[in-house]
Amino acid sequence: MNTTDAVTFWNDVYANRPTATAPRPNDRLTEIVTPLPPGDALDIGCGEGGDTLWLARQGWRVTAIDISRVAVDRLAALALSHDLGDRITAEQHDLRESFPQGAFDLISAHYLHTPFDLDRAIVLREAAHALRPGGRLLIVDHGSTAPWSWIQDPDVRYPSPGEVADGLALDPARWTVERADTPRRIATGPGGQTAEVTDHILLIRRAA
Ligand SMILES: C[S@@+](CC[C@H](N)C(=O)[O-])C[C@H]1O[C@@H](n2cnc3c(N)ncnc32)[C@H](O)[C@@H]1O
Repeated sequence: MNTTDAVTFWNDVYANRPTATAPRPNDRLTEIVTPLPPGDALDIGCGEGGDTLWLARQGWRVTAIDISRVAVDRLAALALSHDLGDRITAEQHDLRESFPQGAFDLISAHYLHTPFDLDRAIVLREAAHALRPGGRLLIVDHGSTAPWSWIQDPDVRYPSPGEVADGLALDPARWTVERADTPRRIATGPGGQTAEVTDHILLIRRAA
């Protein structure tokens, strides 16, 4: 049980890290999104913003949101210093209370895990409804715990991509599961250490 609130927790996570000047994008994002034509993207739980910066560099207009004001302010400053200010809008949202306005061709939720209550099914279902026709919702979750993760609960159980999809209860006539699998990769931790981890990938497309 956490004795602090979610906003303070996540602000402290980022405030206690040095500001990343060139945060890296997630491997699954670059792998899956590279072939897609750019449009409007939403990065939910953007953190340090490596995914947002990479998307903007590929030509996407990106709205990036996070519960942490520290993370959002740092990303807004990074967008300017990387000369991507015209393609990136960084907003603070607590997804338990608000979801960004707009319609999107891509919504990315990478490792949207938190030790606080967050009804992900409600959030991700709302995301599916915020897609434009033909747009995609990419959900990449942990499927295992890296040794350096803040998640060190031995009883943690990560839902499978199929279970996440079932939880969204989307009409199969309007949304199609394009990918649901659990690949492994070698991940690099903050100190440069490496470990094999599993990702849970769910890619959903709204009918055109
Ligand atoms: C494990 S981090 C992943 C960050 C980033 N997507 C990445 O792949 O590095 C989870 C992120 O979700 C954000 N988050 C947690 N709860 C949230 C909420 N209720 N609303 C919005 N963002 C939240 C955290 O601040 C954190 O940046």
